[in-house]
Amino acid sequence: MATTISSTCFIFVPIILSSLLCPKTTLCATVLEDLKNLHKPPDFNTTIFNNCLKNPSLRYCTSSPMVDLDEIFKHTIVASHLCNESNNPNCVESFPKIDLRNRPNIASLYLSFTFFWKYCPLSIQSIDFSNNSIKGGFPNDVLYCTQIQSLDLGINEFSGEIPIQSFSSLTNLTFLNLSYNCFSESEISDSQFFKKFNASSFLHSGALVDHKKFTIKAIILLVGFPILVILMVIFLGWLCFQRPDFLPRILQSSRGYTFTPAILEAATCGFSNKNLVGKSDIVHIYKGVLRDATEVKIEMYWDDISRDSYHKFVEECKILSELNHKNLVKVLGWCKGRKFRAIITEWTEEENVEMWLSGASPSWNHRVKVLMGVVECMLYLHEEWPEVDYDLKTSSVLLSDKLEPLISRFQVGERNNSRRKVCKFGVFLLEMILNKSVQEDFDGDDAGFISYMRTLRLSEMQQMVDERINVTETTLHQVKQALSLGLMCIDQSSKEQPSLAQIFNIVSKAYKSNLVLPSANHKTFHGDKVMGHKHFQFR
Ligand SMILES: *[C@@H]1O[C@H](CO)[C@@H](O)[C@H](O)[C@H]1NC(C)=O
Ligand SMILES: *[C@@H]1O[C@H](CO)[C@@H](O)[C@H](O)[C@H]1NC(C)=O
Ligand SMILES: *[C@@H]1O[C@H](CO)[C@@H](O)[C@H](O)[C@H]1NC(C)=O
Ligand SMILES: *[C@@H]1O[C@H](CO)[C@@H](O)[C@H](O)[C@H]1NC(C)=O
Ligand SMILES: *[C@@H]1O[C@H](CO)[C@@H](O)[C@H](O)[C@H]1NC(C)=O
Ligand SMILES: *[C@@H]1O[C@H](CO)[C@@H](O)[C@H](O)[C@H]1NC(C)=O
Repeated sequence: MATTISSTCFIFVPIILSSLLCPKTTLCATVLEDLKNLHKPPDFNTTIFNNCLKNPSLRYCTSSPMVDLDEIFKHTIVASHLCNESNNPNCVESFPKIDLRNRPNIASLYLSFTFFWKYCPLSIQSIDFSNNSIKGGFPNDVLYCTQIQSLDLGINEFSGEIPIQSFSSLTNLTFLNLSYNCFSESEISDSQFFKKFNASSFLHSGALVDHKKFTIKAIILLVGFPILVILMVIFLGWLCFQRPDFLPRILQSSRGYTFTPAILEAATCGFSNKNLVGKSDIVHIYKGVLRDATEVKIEMYWDDISRDSYHKFVEECKILSELNHKNLVKVLGWCKGRKFRAIITEWTEEENVEMWLSGASPSWNHRVKVLMGVVECMLYLHEEWPEVDYDLKTSSVLLSDKLEPLISRFQVGERNNSRRKVCKFGVFLLEMILNKSVQEDFDGDDAGFISYMRTLRLSEMQQMVDERINVTETTLHQVKQALSLGLMCIDQSSKEQPSLAQIFNIVSKAYKSNLVLPSANHKTFHGDKVMGHKHFQFR
Protein backbone atom coordinates (compact mmCIF):
# COMPACT_ATOMS: atom_id res chain seq x y z
CA MET A 1 0.00 0.00 0.00
CA ALA A 2 2.77 2.38 0.92
CA THR A 3 4.07 2.23 -2.63
CA THR A 4 0.87 3.77 -3.90
CA ILE A 5 1.17 6.89 -1.81
CA SER A 6 2.54 9.47 -4.11
CA SER A 7 4.15 12.64 -2.97
CA THR A 8 1.48 14.65 -4.77
CA CYS A 9 -1.28 13.18 -2.69
CA PHE A 10 -0.02 14.54 0.56
CA ILE A 11 -3.28 15.48 2.09
CA PHE A 12 -5.67 12.65 1.40
CA VAL A 13 -3.56 9.67 1.78
CA PRO A 14 -6.26 7.18 2.71
CA ILE A 15 -8.61 8.34 0.00
CA ILE A 16 -6.43 6.65 -2.49
CA LEU A 17 -6.45 3.59 -0.32
CA SER A 18 -10.15 3.74 -0.17
CA SER A 19 -10.57 4.34 -3.84
CA LEU A 20 -8.44 1.32 -4.52
CA LEU A 21 -10.32 -0.82 -2.12
CA CYS A 22 -13.65 0.33 -3.43
CA PRO A 23 -13.80 0.73 -7.14
CA LYS A 24 -16.87 2.48 -8.43
CA THR A 25 -18.42 -0.79 -9.49
CA THR A 26 -18.26 -2.63 -6.15
CA LEU A 27 -20.24 -2.12 -3.00
CA CYS A 28 -18.46 0.37 -0.75
CA ALA A 29 -17.69 0.09 2.90
CA THR A 30 -19.39 2.70 5.05
CA VAL A 31 -17.39 5.28 6.92
CA LEU A 32 -18.03 3.45 10.20
CA GLU A 33 -16.77 0.16 8.78
CA ASP A 34 -13.67 1.85 7.45
CA LEU A 35 -13.06 3.53 10.80
CA LYS A 36 -13.28 0.15 12.47
CA ASN A 37 -11.32 -1.96 10.03
CA LEU A 38 -8.59 0.21 8.53
CA HIS A 39 -5.32 0.66 10.34
CA LYS A 40 -2.67 3.21 9.72
CA PRO A 41 0.34 1.99 7.76
CA PRO A 42 3.66 1.71 9.61
CA ASP A 43 5.17 4.60 7.71
CA PHE A 44 2.18 6.85 8.31
CA ASN A 45 4.35 8.95 10.57
CA THR A 46 6.66 9.62 7.68
CA THR A 47 3.88 10.43 5.29
CA ILE A 48 2.45 13.01 7.63
CA PHE A 49 5.84 14.36 8.35
CA ASN A 50 6.51 14.80 4.63
CA ASN A 51 3.09 16.39 4.14
CA CYS A 52 3.87 18.93 6.79
CA LEU A 53 7.20 19.68 5.33
CA LYS A 54 5.60 20.45 2.02
CA ASN A 55 2.64 22.33 3.38
CA PRO A 56 3.24 23.59 6.93
CA SER A 57 -0.08 25.34 7.00
CA LEU A 58 -1.95 22.05 7.20
CA ARG A 59 -4.10 22.18 10.29
CA TYR A 60 -2.78 18.92 11.75
CA CYS A 61 0.76 20.14 11.40
CA THR A 62 0.25 23.12 13.64
CA SER A 63 -2.60 21.90 15.81
CA SER A 64 -0.86 20.57 18.88
CA PRO A 65 2.66 19.98 20.09
CA MET A 66 2.15 16.23 20.04
CA VAL A 67 0.48 15.06 16.89
CA ASP A 68 -1.91 12.17 17.49
CA LEU A 69 -1.28 9.95 14.47
CA ASP A 70 -4.25 7.68 15.16
CA GLU A 71 -6.61 10.64 15.16
CA ILE A 72 -5.16 12.01 11.99
CA PHE A 73 -5.53 8.67 10.33
CA LYS A 74 -9.19 8.47 11.31
CA HIS A 75 -9.58 12.06 10.16
CA THR A 76 -8.34 11.16 6.70
CA ILE A 77 -10.81 8.27 6.50
CA VAL A 78 -13.74 10.56 7.34
CA ALA A 79 -12.44 13.23 4.99
CA SER A 80 -12.33 10.88 2.06
CA HIS A 81 -15.89 9.70 2.69
CA LEU A 82 -17.19 13.19 3.29
CA CYS A 83 -15.56 14.49 0.13
CA ASN A 84 -17.27 11.83 -1.91
CA GLU A 85 -20.64 12.24 -0.12
CA SER A 86 -20.48 15.95 -0.87
CA ASN A 87 -20.05 15.32 -4.57
CA ASN A 88 -16.79 17.14 -4.87
CA PRO A 89 -15.29 16.90 -8.33
CA ASN A 90 -11.87 15.59 -7.23
CA CYS A 91 -11.39 13.73 -4.01
CA VAL A 92 -7.79 12.88 -4.70
CA GLU A 93 -6.31 16.31 -4.32
CA SER A 94 -8.46 18.27 -1.91
CA PHE A 95 -12.12 19.26 -1.67
CA PRO A 96 -13.85 22.66 -1.36
CA LYS A 97 -17.29 21.88 0.06
CA ILE A 98 -19.14 19.83 2.60
CA ASP A 99 -22.64 19.51 1.21
CA LEU A 100 -24.94 17.36 3.30
CA ARG A 101 -28.09 19.27 2.48
CA ASN A 102 -31.19 17.05 2.59
CA ARG A 103 -29.16 14.11 3.97
CA PRO A 104 -30.82 13.52 7.34
CA ASN A 105 -29.56 9.91 7.56
CA ILE A 106 -25.87 10.75 7.64
CA ALA A 107 -25.63 14.42 8.52
CA SER A 108 -25.57 13.99 12.30
CA LEU A 109 -23.11 11.14 12.02
CA TYR A 110 -20.59 13.34 10.24
CA LEU A 111 -21.22 16.14 12.69
CA SER A 112 -20.26 13.78 15.51
CA PHE A 113 -16.72 13.08 14.24
CA THR A 114 -14.95 15.64 16.38
CA PHE A 115 -11.52 14.28 15.30
CA PHE A 116 -12.42 15.21 11.72
CA TRP A 117 -13.49 18.78 12.49
CA LYS A 118 -10.46 19.32 14.75
CA TYR A 119 -8.23 19.00 11.65
CA CYS A 120 -10.77 20.55 9.28
CA PRO A 121 -9.14 20.62 5.82
CA LEU A 122 -8.19 24.14 4.82
CA SER A 123 -9.53 23.61 1.32
CA ILE A 124 -13.13 23.60 2.54
CA GLN A 125 -14.90 26.86 1.75
CA SER A 126 -18.53 25.92 2.12
CA ILE A 127 -20.47 23.85 4.66
CA ASP A 128 -24.12 23.02 4.20
CA PHE A 129 -26.00 20.91 6.73
CA SER A 130 -29.41 22.38 6.00
CA ASN A 131 -32.78 20.62 5.95
CA ASN A 132 -31.81 17.62 8.08
CA SER A 133 -33.97 18.02 11.19
CA ILE A 134 -30.87 17.63 13.35
CA LYS A 135 -31.58 17.98 17.04
CA GLY A 136 -29.25 19.18 19.78
CA GLY A 137 -27.14 22.15 20.64
CA PHE A 138 -25.23 24.30 18.19
CA PRO A 139 -22.63 22.11 16.31
CA ASN A 140 -19.61 23.90 17.74
CA ASP A 141 -17.13 21.57 16.01
CA VAL A 142 -18.02 23.07 12.63
CA LEU A 143 -16.49 26.32 13.80
CA TYR A 144 -13.00 24.68 13.74
CA CYS A 145 -13.21 25.39 9.99
CA THR A 146 -12.42 29.05 10.52
CA GLN A 147 -11.61 29.65 6.86
CA ILE A 148 -15.08 28.95 5.48
CA GLN A 149 -16.99 31.53 3.47
CA SER A 150 -20.40 29.93 3.63
CA LEU A 151 -22.28 28.15 6.42
CA ASP A 152 -25.83 26.90 6.14
CA LEU A 153 -27.42 25.22 9.16
CA GLY A 154 -30.99 26.18 8.26
CA ILE A 155 -34.08 24.01 8.58
CA ASN A 156 -32.94 21.91 11.52
CA GLU A 157 -33.90 21.64 15.12
CA PHE A 158 -30.84 23.09 16.76
CA SER A 159 -31.56 24.67 20.11
CA GLY A 160 -29.81 26.55 22.89
CA GLU A 161 -27.38 29.42 22.65
CA ILE A 162 -25.59 30.46 19.47
CA PRO A 163 -21.83 30.69 20.35
CA ILE A 164 -21.48 34.32 19.36
CA GLN A 165 -17.86 34.57 20.59
CA SER A 166 -16.66 31.56 18.56
CA PHE A 167 -18.16 32.99 15.36
CA SER A 168 -15.85 35.99 15.48
CA SER A 169 -12.90 33.83 14.25
CA LEU A 170 -14.78 33.10 11.00
CA THR A 171 -13.42 36.24 9.38
CA ASN A 172 -14.00 35.11 5.79
CA LEU A 173 -17.65 34.12 6.31
CA THR A 174 -19.88 35.95 3.85
CA PHE A 175 -22.93 33.67 3.80
CA LEU A 176 -24.69 32.45 6.88
CA ASN A 177 -28.06 30.80 7.27
CA LEU A 178 -29.38 29.76 10.67
CA SER A 179 -33.04 30.10 9.72
CA TYR A 180 -35.73 27.69 10.91
CA ASN A 181 -34.17 26.44 14.12
CA CYS A 182 -35.05 26.61 17.78
CA PHE A 183 -32.22 28.66 19.19
CA SER A 184 -32.79 30.70 22.30
CA GLU A 185 -32.89 34.44 21.98
CA SER A 186 -29.37 35.85 21.86
CA GLU A 187 -27.84 39.27 21.46
CA ILE A 188 -26.91 38.75 17.82
CA SER A 189 -27.87 42.27 16.84
CA ASP A 190 -25.42 43.69 19.39
CA SER A 191 -22.48 41.73 17.94
CA GLN A 192 -20.28 43.47 15.38
CA PHE A 193 -19.68 40.16 13.60
CA PHE A 194 -23.33 39.47 12.85
CA LYS A 195 -23.91 42.94 11.41
CA LYS A 196 -22.71 41.46 8.11
CA PHE A 197 -25.87 39.39 7.94
CA ASN A 198 -29.40 40.59 7.77
CA ALA A 199 -32.56 39.12 9.20
CA SER A 200 -32.99 36.66 6.34
CA SER A 201 -30.11 34.68 7.87
CA PHE A 202 -32.10 34.20 11.03
CA LEU A 203 -35.67 33.69 9.85
CA HIS A 204 -37.62 31.79 12.48
CA SER A 205 -34.38 30.81 14.14
CA GLY A 206 -35.55 31.90 17.57
CA ALA A 207 -32.27 33.77 17.93
CA LEU A 208 -33.53 37.24 17.17
CA VAL A 209 -35.37 39.15 19.86
CA ASP A 210 -38.88 39.28 18.49
CA HIS A 211 -39.74 42.95 18.68
CA LYS A 212 -43.30 42.30 17.71
CA LYS A 213 -43.72 39.91 20.60
CA PHE A 214 -41.91 42.34 22.85
CA THR A 215 -44.12 45.15 21.67
CA ILE A 216 -47.23 43.09 22.28
CA LYS A 217 -46.01 42.26 25.77
CA ALA A 218 -45.22 45.91 26.38
CA ILE A 219 -48.63 46.96 25.12
CA ILE A 220 -50.33 44.38 27.27
CA LEU A 221 -48.37 45.58 30.25
CA LEU A 222 -48.75 49.28 29.56
CA VAL A 223 -52.37 49.21 28.49
CA GLY A 224 -53.66 46.08 30.16
CA PHE A 225 -52.40 46.87 33.61
CA PRO A 226 -54.04 50.30 33.87
CA ILE A 227 -57.21 48.80 32.43
CA LEU A 228 -57.07 46.10 35.07
CA VAL A 229 -56.57 48.70 37.77
CA ILE A 230 -59.42 50.78 36.40
CA LEU A 231 -61.67 47.74 36.24
CA MET A 232 -60.81 46.85 39.82
CA VAL A 233 -61.52 50.39 40.95
CA ILE A 234 -64.82 50.31 39.08
CA PHE A 235 -65.64 46.96 40.62
CA LEU A 236 -64.77 48.17 44.11
CA GLY A 237 -66.76 51.32 43.49
CA TRP A 238 -69.68 49.24 42.34
CA LEU A 239 -69.37 47.14 45.49
CA CYS A 240 -69.24 50.21 47.70
CA PHE A 241 -72.19 51.88 46.08
CA GLN A 242 -74.28 48.90 45.12
CA ARG A 243 -73.43 45.96 47.32
CA PRO A 244 -71.58 47.18 50.42
CA ASP A 245 -72.81 44.04 52.13
CA PHE A 246 -70.14 42.13 50.16
CA LEU A 247 -67.33 44.26 51.60
CA PRO A 248 -65.35 43.05 54.60
CA ARG A 249 -67.06 44.11 57.78
CA ILE A 250 -64.39 46.66 58.71
CA LEU A 251 -64.98 48.50 55.44
CA GLN A 252 -68.70 48.72 56.00
CA SER A 253 -69.59 51.82 57.92
CA SER A 254 -71.27 50.68 61.08
CA ARG A 255 -73.09 53.92 61.82
CA GLY A 256 -75.78 55.21 59.52
CA TYR A 257 -75.53 52.07 57.44
CA THR A 258 -77.61 52.51 54.33
CA PHE A 259 -78.96 49.82 52.12
CA THR A 260 -78.66 50.07 48.36
CA PRO A 261 -81.41 49.16 45.90
CA ALA A 262 -79.17 46.30 44.73
CA ILE A 263 -78.98 44.86 48.24
CA LEU A 264 -82.75 45.03 48.63
CA GLU A 265 -83.22 43.48 45.22
CA ALA A 266 -80.93 40.61 46.16
CA ALA A 267 -82.63 40.20 49.55
CA THR A 268 -86.09 39.92 48.01
CA CYS A 269 -85.23 37.77 44.98
CA GLY A 270 -85.69 40.81 42.76
CA PHE A 271 -88.75 42.14 44.61
CA SER A 272 -90.60 38.97 43.75
CA ASN A 273 -94.25 38.57 44.54
CA LYS A 274 -93.36 35.65 46.76
CA ASN A 275 -91.64 38.11 49.09
CA LEU A 276 -94.37 40.74 48.93
CA VAL A 277 -96.27 40.52 52.21
CA GLY A 278 -98.34 43.68 52.07
CA LYS A 279 -99.25 46.30 49.55
CA SER A 280 -101.05 49.60 49.22
CA ASP A 281 -100.89 52.46 46.73
CA ILE A 282 -97.77 53.98 48.14
CA VAL A 283 -96.21 51.29 50.27
CA HIS A 284 -95.06 47.80 49.44
CA ILE A 285 -93.90 45.61 52.27
CA TYR A 286 -91.46 42.84 51.52
CA LYS A 287 -89.91 40.12 53.57
CA GLY A 288 -86.23 39.76 52.71
CA VAL A 289 -83.17 37.83 53.73
CA LEU A 290 -79.81 39.62 53.88
CA ARG A 291 -76.46 38.03 53.04
CA ASP A 292 -75.83 37.30 56.72
CA ALA A 293 -79.19 35.45 56.85
CA THR A 294 -80.92 38.18 58.85
CA GLU A 295 -84.62 38.28 58.05
CA VAL A 296 -85.81 41.80 57.44
CA LYS A 297 -88.97 43.70 56.71
CA ILE A 298 -88.63 46.19 53.91
CA GLU A 299 -91.20 48.96 53.70
CA MET A 300 -90.91 50.62 50.32
CA TYR A 301 -92.66 53.94 49.75
CA TRP A 302 -93.39 54.72 46.12
CA ASP A 303 -94.10 58.38 46.61
CA ASP A 304 -92.25 61.22 45.00
CA ILE A 305 -90.69 63.37 47.65
CA SER A 306 -88.71 66.57 47.37
CA ARG A 307 -85.02 66.79 48.07
CA ASP A 308 -85.73 68.50 51.38
CA SER A 309 -88.17 65.85 52.45
CA TYR A 310 -85.63 63.25 51.48
CA HIS A 311 -83.00 64.84 53.71
CA LYS A 312 -85.52 64.95 56.49
CA PHE A 313 -86.28 61.30 55.82
CA VAL A 314 -82.59 60.41 56.12
CA GLU A 315 -82.17 62.40 59.30
CA GLU A 316 -85.17 60.62 60.78
CA CYS A 317 -83.87 57.26 59.69
CA LYS A 318 -80.52 58.00 61.31
CA ILE A 319 -82.26 58.69 64.59
CA LEU A 320 -84.56 55.70 64.34
CA SER A 321 -81.69 53.32 63.59
CA GLU A 322 -79.99 54.47 66.78
CA LEU A 323 -82.91 53.31 68.88
CA ASN A 324 -82.13 50.18 70.76
CA HIS A 325 -84.60 48.57 73.11
CA LYS A 326 -85.84 45.05 73.48
CA ASN A 327 -89.43 46.24 73.12
CA LEU A 328 -88.86 48.24 70.01
CA VAL A 329 -88.66 46.79 66.54
CA LYS A 330 -85.06 47.40 65.44
CA VAL A 331 -84.55 49.75 62.52
CA LEU A 332 -81.62 48.38 60.51
CA GLY A 333 -81.31 51.10 57.91
CA TRP A 334 -82.85 52.84 55.01
CA CYS A 335 -82.54 53.11 51.29
CA LYS A 336 -83.19 55.64 48.57
CA GLY A 337 -83.89 54.37 45.12
CA ARG A 338 -84.69 56.37 42.02
CA LYS A 339 -88.43 56.09 42.58
CA PHE A 340 -88.77 54.86 46.11
CA ARG A 341 -87.44 55.13 49.58
CA ALA A 342 -87.44 52.29 52.04
CA ILE A 343 -87.02 51.56 55.69
CA ILE A 344 -85.56 48.24 56.68
CA THR A 345 -86.42 46.80 60.05
CA GLU A 346 -85.90 43.47 61.70
CA TRP A 347 -88.47 40.86 60.75
CA THR A 348 -91.05 39.99 63.40
CA GLU A 349 -93.73 37.40 63.10
CA GLU A 350 -96.83 39.47 62.76
CA GLU A 351 -99.01 38.62 65.71
CA ASN A 352 -100.15 41.82 67.34
CA VAL A 353 -101.60 42.29 70.79
CA GLU A 354 -105.11 42.71 69.42
CA MET A 355 -105.03 39.31 67.76
CA TRP A 356 -103.45 37.82 70.85
CA LEU A 357 -106.13 39.22 73.14
CA SER A 358 -108.95 37.90 71.05
CA GLY A 359 -107.36 34.55 70.31
CA ALA A 360 -105.27 33.24 73.14
CA SER A 361 -107.35 34.16 76.25
CA PRO A 362 -104.20 35.44 77.92
CA SER A 363 -103.99 35.30 81.68
CA TRP A 364 -103.63 38.30 83.89
CA ASN A 365 -99.95 37.57 84.43
CA HIS A 366 -99.30 37.57 80.74
CA ARG A 367 -101.17 40.80 80.28
CA VAL A 368 -99.09 42.42 83.01
CA LYS A 369 -95.93 41.17 81.37
CA VAL A 370 -96.92 42.79 78.08
CA LEU A 371 -97.84 46.02 79.86
CA MET A 372 -94.48 45.94 81.60
CA GLY A 373 -92.60 45.70 78.29
CA VAL A 374 -94.61 48.53 76.80
CA VAL A 375 -94.02 50.78 79.77
CA GLU A 376 -90.29 50.02 79.83
CA CYS A 377 -90.04 50.95 76.19
CA MET A 378 -92.08 54.12 76.69
CA LEU A 379 -89.81 55.16 79.53
CA TYR A 380 -86.69 54.47 77.47
CA LEU A 381 -87.99 56.61 74.63
CA HIS A 382 -89.18 59.30 77.01
CA GLU A 383 -85.83 59.59 78.71
CA GLU A 384 -83.47 59.09 75.81
CA TRP A 385 -85.38 59.93 72.65
CA PRO A 386 -88.14 62.37 73.55
CA GLU A 387 -88.44 63.35 69.89
CA VAL A 388 -89.55 59.87 68.92
CA ASP A 389 -93.29 59.47 68.67
CA TYR A 390 -94.99 56.11 68.51
CA ASP A 391 -98.31 54.58 67.79
CA LEU A 392 -99.54 52.70 70.83
CA LYS A 393 -102.42 50.52 69.76
CA THR A 394 -103.16 46.92 70.43
CA SER A 395 -103.07 46.47 66.68
CA SER A 396 -99.65 48.03 66.23
CA VAL A 397 -97.84 46.48 69.18
CA LEU A 398 -96.43 43.15 68.03
CA LEU A 399 -95.62 40.17 70.16
CA SER A 400 -92.41 38.18 69.98
CA ASP A 401 -92.54 34.46 70.52
CA LYS A 402 -91.36 35.11 74.09
CA LEU A 403 -94.40 37.32 74.68
CA GLU A 404 -92.29 40.45 74.59
CA PRO A 405 -94.30 43.33 73.19
CA LEU A 406 -92.65 45.17 70.33
CA ILE A 407 -93.65 48.72 69.50
CA SER A 408 -93.55 48.67 65.74
CA ARG A 409 -94.78 52.05 64.57
CA PHE A 410 -92.72 55.03 65.48
CA GLN A 411 -91.37 58.11 63.86
CA VAL A 412 -89.59 61.30 64.72
CA GLY A 413 -92.30 63.68 65.85
CA GLU A 414 -92.78 66.58 68.19
CA ARG A 415 -91.42 66.71 71.70
CA ASN A 416 -93.47 67.64 74.76
CA ASN A 417 -96.42 65.45 74.01
CA SER A 418 -95.93 63.15 76.95
CA ARG A 419 -99.42 63.86 78.21
CA ARG A 420 -100.82 62.56 74.98
CA LYS A 421 -98.57 59.54 75.17
CA VAL A 422 -99.72 58.77 78.69
CA CYS A 423 -103.31 59.12 77.51
CA LYS A 424 -102.63 56.68 74.69
CA PHE A 425 -101.16 54.30 77.20
CA GLY A 426 -104.32 54.62 79.25
CA VAL A 427 -106.40 53.56 76.26
CA PHE A 428 -104.00 50.70 75.57
CA LEU A 429 -104.20 49.61 79.21
CA LEU A 430 -107.99 49.67 79.23
CA GLU A 431 -108.13 47.77 75.98
CA MET A 432 -105.92 45.14 77.57
CA ILE A 433 -108.38 44.65 80.38
CA LEU A 434 -111.87 45.31 79.08
CA ASN A 435 -114.09 43.25 76.87
CA LYS A 436 -113.40 43.64 73.23
CA SER A 437 -116.98 44.57 72.54
CA VAL A 438 -116.52 47.81 74.50
CA GLN A 439 -113.96 49.13 72.10
CA GLU A 440 -115.72 47.73 69.09
CA ASP A 441 -118.61 50.07 69.78
CA PHE A 442 -116.30 52.98 69.09
CA ASP A 443 -114.60 51.47 66.07
CA GLY A 444 -111.22 53.06 66.62
CA ASP A 445 -112.62 56.40 67.77
CA ASP A 446 -110.35 57.01 70.75
CA ALA A 447 -111.93 60.30 71.71
CA GLY A 448 -115.34 58.69 71.88
CA PHE A 449 -114.00 55.76 73.85
CA ILE A 450 -112.25 58.10 76.28
CA SER A 451 -115.25 60.30 76.93
CA TYR A 452 -117.43 57.21 77.36
CA MET A 453 -114.99 55.73 79.83
CA ARG A 454 -114.90 58.92 81.85
CA THR A 455 -118.63 58.73 82.38
CA LEU A 456 -118.30 55.33 84.06
CA ARG A 457 -117.84 54.49 87.68
CA LEU A 458 -115.22 52.02 88.64
CA SER A 459 -117.81 49.47 89.61
CA GLU A 460 -119.44 49.78 86.21
CA MET A 461 -116.10 49.30 84.55
CA GLN A 462 -115.47 46.22 86.61
CA GLN A 463 -118.48 44.67 84.93
CA MET A 464 -116.81 45.12 81.61
CA VAL A 465 -113.54 43.38 82.51
CA ASP A 466 -112.73 40.60 80.08
CA GLU A 467 -114.19 37.57 81.75
CA ARG A 468 -111.41 35.37 80.42
CA ILE A 469 -109.03 37.09 82.83
CA ASN A 470 -110.61 34.96 85.50
CA VAL A 471 -110.26 37.55 88.23
CA THR A 472 -109.60 35.96 91.55
CA GLU A 473 -109.41 37.40 94.97
CA THR A 474 -105.72 37.88 94.62
CA THR A 475 -105.77 39.61 91.26
CA LEU A 476 -108.83 41.68 91.98
CA HIS A 477 -106.80 44.49 93.55
CA GLN A 478 -104.43 44.61 90.63
CA VAL A 479 -107.26 44.64 88.12
CA LYS A 480 -109.09 47.37 90.00
CA GLN A 481 -106.05 49.52 90.34
CA ALA A 482 -105.11 48.93 86.72
CA LEU A 483 -108.56 50.21 85.74
CA SER A 484 -108.12 53.26 87.90
CA LEU A 485 -104.64 53.84 86.49
CA GLY A 486 -106.09 53.65 83.00
CA LEU A 487 -108.76 56.16 83.89
CA MET A 488 -106.25 58.60 85.29
CA CYS A 489 -104.06 58.23 82.25
CA ILE A 490 -106.78 59.07 79.77
CA ASP A 491 -107.58 62.29 81.58
CA GLN A 492 -105.14 64.60 79.84
CA SER A 493 -106.45 67.73 81.48
CA SER A 494 -106.23 66.47 85.03
CA LYS A 495 -103.33 67.22 87.31
CA GLU A 496 -103.71 63.69 88.45
CA GLN A 497 -102.58 62.23 85.17
CA PRO A 498 -99.55 60.22 86.29
CA SER A 499 -96.09 60.64 84.82
CA LEU A 500 -94.44 57.82 82.93
CA ALA A 501 -92.07 57.25 85.82
CA GLN A 502 -95.00 56.76 88.15
CA ILE A 503 -96.70 54.42 85.73
CA PHE A 504 -93.47 52.49 85.49
CA ASN A 505 -93.22 52.12 89.25
CA ILE A 506 -96.73 50.79 89.55
CA VAL A 507 -96.60 48.39 86.65
CA SER A 508 -93.20 47.04 87.59
CA LYS A 509 -94.32 46.38 91.15
CA ALA A 510 -97.27 44.42 89.85
CA TYR A 511 -95.02 42.61 87.40
CA LYS A 512 -92.45 41.71 90.06
CA SER A 513 -95.03 40.45 92.50
CA ASN A 514 -96.45 38.24 89.77
CA LEU A 515 -92.97 36.92 89.11
CA VAL A 516 -92.54 36.04 92.77
CA LEU A 517 -95.94 34.40 92.76
CA PRO A 518 -96.27 32.99 89.31
CA SER A 519 -99.62 31.47 90.10
CA ALA A 520 -100.84 34.47 92.02
CA ASN A 521 -104.41 33.39 91.38
CA HIS A 522 -104.14 30.94 94.23
CA LYS A 523 -102.32 33.01 96.78
CA THR A 524 -102.95 36.04 98.83
CA PHE A 525 -101.86 39.11 97.09
CA HIS A 526 -100.83 42.21 98.95
CA GLY A 527 -102.41 44.53 96.51
CA ASP A 528 -102.11 47.56 98.79
CA LYS A 529 -98.38 47.40 98.66
CA VAL A 530 -98.36 47.23 94.91
CA MET A 531 -100.98 49.71 93.93
CA GLY A 532 -101.01 51.81 97.04
CA HIS A 533 -99.56 54.90 95.54
CA LYS A 534 -101.22 57.97 96.96
CA HIS A 535 -102.02 59.38 93.54
CA PHE A 536 -103.90 56.38 92.43
CA GLN A 537 -106.94 56.30 94.54
CA PHE A 538 -110.27 55.53 93.09
CA ARG A 539 -112.45 58.45 92.55
C1 LIG B 1 7.91 10.12 13.30
O1 LIG B 1 9.12 10.00 12.58
C2 LIG B 1 10.05 10.99 12.73
C3 LIG B 1 11.19 10.71 11.79
O2 LIG B 1 10.73 10.33 10.59
C4 LIG B 1 10.46 11.05 14.17
O3 LIG B 1 11.35 12.10 14.34
C5 LIG B 1 9.25 11.24 15.08
O4 LIG B 1 9.60 11.18 16.43
C6 LIG B 1 8.23 10.18 14.80
N1 LIG B 1 7.06 10.49 15.59
C7 LIG B 1 6.22 9.59 16.06
C8 LIG B 1 5.06 10.08 16.81
O5 LIG B 1 6.43 8.39 15.89
C1 LIG C 1 -18.97 8.17 -3.57
O1 LIG C 1 -20.29 8.73 -3.63
C2 LIG C 1 -21.18 8.08 -4.47
C3 LIG C 1 -22.48 8.80 -4.44
O2 LIG C 1 -22.32 10.05 -3.94
C4 LIG C 1 -21.32 6.62 -4.08
O3 LIG C 1 -22.15 5.95 -4.95
C5 LIG C 1 -19.97 5.94 -4.01
O4 LIG C 1 -20.08 4.67 -3.50
C6 LIG C 1 -19.05 6.72 -3.11
N1 LIG C 1 -17.71 6.14 -3.11
C7 LIG C 1 -16.99 5.92 -2.01
C8 LIG C 1 -15.66 5.40 -2.22
O5 LIG C 1 -17.45 6.16 -0.90
C1 LIG D 1 -36.12 19.31 2.71
O1 LIG D 1 -36.13 17.91 2.61
C2 LIG D 1 -37.37 17.36 2.28
C3 LIG D 1 -37.24 15.86 2.29
O2 LIG D 1 -36.49 15.44 3.37
C4 LIG D 1 -37.81 17.87 0.93
O3 LIG D 1 -39.08 17.35 0.62
C5 LIG D 1 -37.86 19.37 0.94
O4 LIG D 1 -38.14 19.86 -0.34
C6 LIG D 1 -36.52 19.91 1.38
N1 LIG D 1 -36.59 21.35 1.51
C7 LIG D 1 -35.69 22.21 1.05
C8 LIG D 1 -35.93 23.64 1.26
O5 LIG D 1 -34.69 21.80 0.47
C1 LIG E 1 -9.51 34.35 4.68
O1 LIG E 1 -9.10 34.38 3.36
C2 LIG E 1 -7.83 34.88 3.16
C3 LIG E 1 -7.59 34.97 1.66
O2 LIG E 1 -8.17 33.92 0.98
C4 LIG E 1 -6.80 34.02 3.87
O3 LIG E 1 -5.54 34.54 3.72
C5 LIG E 1 -7.14 33.95 5.33
O4 LIG E 1 -6.30 33.07 5.99
C6 LIG E 1 -8.55 33.51 5.50
N1 LIG E 1 -8.92 33.55 6.88
C7 LIG E 1 -9.04 32.48 7.64
C8 LIG E 1 -9.47 32.72 9.03
O5 LIG E 1 -8.88 31.37 7.20
C1 LIG F 1 -30.05 40.17 2.99
O1 LIG F 1 -28.74 39.95 2.44
C2 LIG F 1 -28.78 39.18 1.27
C3 LIG F 1 -27.34 39.00 0.87
O2 LIG F 1 -26.61 38.46 1.94
C4 LIG F 1 -29.55 39.91 0.19
O3 LIG F 1 -29.63 39.15 -0.96
C5 LIG F 1 -30.96 40.18 0.71
O4 LIG F 1 -31.66 40.98 -0.20
C6 LIG F 1 -30.89 40.91 2.03
N1 LIG F 1 -32.25 41.01 2.54
C7 LIG F 1 -32.69 42.11 3.13
C8 LIG F 1 -34.11 42.03 3.60
O5 LIG F 1 -32.00 43.10 3.27
C1 LIG G 1 -32.04 30.76 4.67
O1 LIG G 1 -32.83 29.62 4.47
C2 LIG G 1 -34.22 29.87 4.42
C3 LIG G 1 -34.92 28.55 4.24
O2 LIG G 1 -34.39 27.79 3.22
C4 LIG G 1 -34.52 30.83 3.29
O3 LIG G 1 -35.87 31.11 3.29
C5 LIG G 1 -33.71 32.09 3.49
O4 LIG G 1 -33.90 32.97 2.42
C6 LIG G 1 -32.27 31.77 3.61
N1 LIG G 1 -31.52 32.97 3.90
C7 LIG G 1 -30.52 33.41 3.16
C8 LIG G 1 -29.80 34.64 3.60
O5 LIG G 1 -30.18 32.83 2.16
